[in-house]
Amino acid sequence: MKNTSQRTVAETIRATARRFQRAKLHYGHGTETAPDEAAWLVGHALGVAPDRLAGRLNKPVPPAAMKKIDALTAARIRTRKPLAYLLKEAWFAGRKFYVDERVIVPRSLTGEFIAEQFQPWIDAKRVRRILDLCTGSGGMAIACAYAFPKARVEAADVSAEALAVARINIKRHRLGRRVQLRRSDLFQALKDRRYDVIVTNPPYVARAEMRTLPREYRHEPELALVSGRDGLDAIARILAGAARHLNPGGILVGEVGNSAAALQKKFPSVPFVWLTTSTGDESVFLLAAEDLARHHRAFKMPS
Ligand SMILES: C[S@@+](CC[C@H](N)C(=O)[O-])C[C@H]1O[C@@H](n2cnc3c(N)ncnc32)[C@H](O)[C@@H]1O
Repeated sequence: MKNTSQRTVAETIRATARRFQRAKLHYGHGTETAPDEAAWLVGHALGVAPDRLAGRLNKPVPPAAMKKIDALTAARIRTRKPLAYLLKEAWFAGRKFYVDERVIVPRSLTGEFIAEQFQPWIDAKRVRRILDLCTGSGGMAIACAYAFPKARVEAADVSAEALAVARINIKRHRLGRRVQLRRSDLFQALKDRRYDVIVTNPPYVARAEMRTLPREYRHEPELALVSGRDGLDAIARILAGAARHLNPGGILVGEVGNSAAALQKKFPSVPFVWLTTSTGDESVFLLAAEDLARHHRAFKMPS
């Protein structure tokens, strides 16, 4: 049998993936499969970004990196922590972010629409002010700052701990002049500020559903995941408040995961546009400022 210190990168990724599969890990915190998660881990140990690994697959893995890979693999299996927390890094919208247990691992599907400047739903040239509500690690705010180089972005969260992580990322991406942090319970501390685009990936898991989620999710802050009995408390408040914070022609883009059907059912008359990601997922909606204003009453109805 081959000594593990002589394994190539490709062999090491395969061996790591097999260990993950045997341990029946849950994915969905930055990767969707055992091989992808293994490639990320191996790349990290080698100091190579996941999208740069292809050119190195036949190179041997040095013993020091192999030791690190073994230790990280064992820790991932033993603790069931999302790999991002073990590596203190996450990849979102093609960029690297610092993460730890104070924030959820960024994986928002909204990233795809940010990269496309929300086309064809808004005149991108005119976007000057963006709000990322419930910003967590700041990933979506930072992705917006890259996608709209002339815009100022506000990144709001009620959690001081999350904002501390977002601050690290804003500094690392050198975007301090264009991305400002706000501590706010949804719109509460945002006074009468208005934006051209509001993006939000709020908590949207129903309380009972939380208990059924794989162990990996229990390492994430509950405040970031659970939102009342039906998972819709935060998004309902956002829908009720958004019109007052959007400029004419502005848009609200919100992500609600598998609560999409429940949201549409709760507000049947509201013309949510369900955006389709490249993988066919439809859990991100878009509403124009005018539609939000028109349906203001629906959002005020008691649930
Ligand atoms: C699902 S996480 C999303 C984080 C980030 N946008 C992302 O996509 O990775 C939801 C975030 O909402 C924040 N949050 C929860 N309740 C809030 C509230 N009432 N006001 C503002 N932020 C809130 C949590 O602290 C958490 O960071």
